[in-house]
Amino acid sequence: MKVIVGITGGIAAYKAPELVRQLVKAGHEVRCAATEHALEFVTRVTLETVSGNALYSDLFASGRTEHVSLKDWGDLLVVAPATANIIGKVANGIADDALSTLLLAFSGKPVVMAPAMNCEMWAHPAVQHNIETLKGWGIRMVGPESGELACGVSGVGRMAEPEQIAAYIASLSTHDSQLSTQKWLVTAGPTYERIDSVRFIGNYSSGKMGFALAQVLADAGADVELVTGPTALTIEHPRVRVTRVESAREMYAAATAAFPTCNGAILSAAVADYRPSECADHKLKKNGNEGMHLDLVQNPDILATLGSMKREGQTLVGFALETDNEEANAQRKLDKKNLDYIVLNSLRDKGAGFGVDTNKVTIIGRDGSRKESPLMSKKEVAQLIVEATALKDTQQ
Ligand code: CTP
Repeated sequence: MKVIVGITGGIAAYKAPELVRQLVKAGHEVRCAATEHALEFVTRVTLETVSGNALYSDLFASGRTEHVSLKDWGDLLVVAPATANIIGKVANGIADDALSTLLLAFSGKPVVMAPAMNCEMWAHPAVQHNIETLKGWGIRMVGPESGELACGVSGVGRMAEPEQIAAYIASLSTHDSQLSTQKWLVTAGPTYERIDSVRFIGNYSSGKMGFALAQVLADAGADVELVTGPTALTIEHPRVRVTRVESAREMYAAATAAFPTCNGAILSAAVADYRPSECADHKLKKNGNEGMHLDLVQNPDILATLGSMKREGQTLVGFALETDNEEANAQRKLDKKNLDYIVLNSLRDKGAGFGVDTNKVTIIGRDGSRKESPLMSKKEVAQLIVEATALKDTQQ
């Protein structure tokens, strides 16, 4: 892998050359990018010597677009140590030096951070909020560890050891993975359709199936665009980019924008078929015994739209949640929406469907293939779906 090691200005920067050395030893090509303050703790000569490459630290010195060429070059960017400052900058989209600019340009590629700071700083709500923001975007955190800090106190804030960071990167290395050159789109969760400023129409989908699919695809080496409706779930994988949306129309916009550059898509979201024709910008008041009538209009069908956009070589997988005539309805959807596979969830099966951790599915292929699962965890079902769809051609 081509790894960029970003170094920021914390005392733990003195351990960065050791991390670089270990990554080089593990067979990775390494380039370093350091902030001005990092170079107060570790020298340019040291970093260039251990990495065997020129250091990137000045946005203007060596051609103004080096952050872009370095972004194209790198497979993974690890920031070690990551100070509260760089964490805050990235969480707020600030790009005011070489490393922060590179980090924003690196969006969509795997980023790992090894935070290091004083324990009070780490516990500060601003830092914790920023960490959650970054995690929500798929940035992986290693550490911080608990132990003695440079300021003399003990607490959480110590950078993870270089061995630990290198081992973590090794676990993410997907050299021999079957989907490492592929990009997949996954939709997950429910959609919320607004009625007024405080109410919506939604459904019980938890997003668990879609998140499990994203995890399995990413573990198999694919870059994953996960477009999810409202859910408390989070995913931490450097190859998964999460886009959080609320309504069917927002999901439609994100999914149709992502699909053209994807090898395939698995649409597991429980999209609301209808939305209120109007959304009041205030809270609607009761109007007594007259009752309340909502006028609903149909939402765009994301799966059918992707089916009509589908190019040669792209794989499209839909879900069908049925209560009656399951197989016939699923087959009809497969044809009508131009799908390659449909995953049939029968609501008759106990333990399958919304909210629960288990599922039981039948995967029906356009080619006539048919795979039935027993009641399994959603993670296992996701594995089965990915094997029967995304991995099918790679296994032949
Ligand atoms: N789907 C979608 N966009 C919609 C509705 C559904 O992408 N507006 C996708 C779901 O993510 C799922 C599949 O379509 O993969 C099946 O959804 P389902 O609600 O079962 O089917 P419908 O097309 O709505 O058909 P019906 O209401 O007749 O069951």
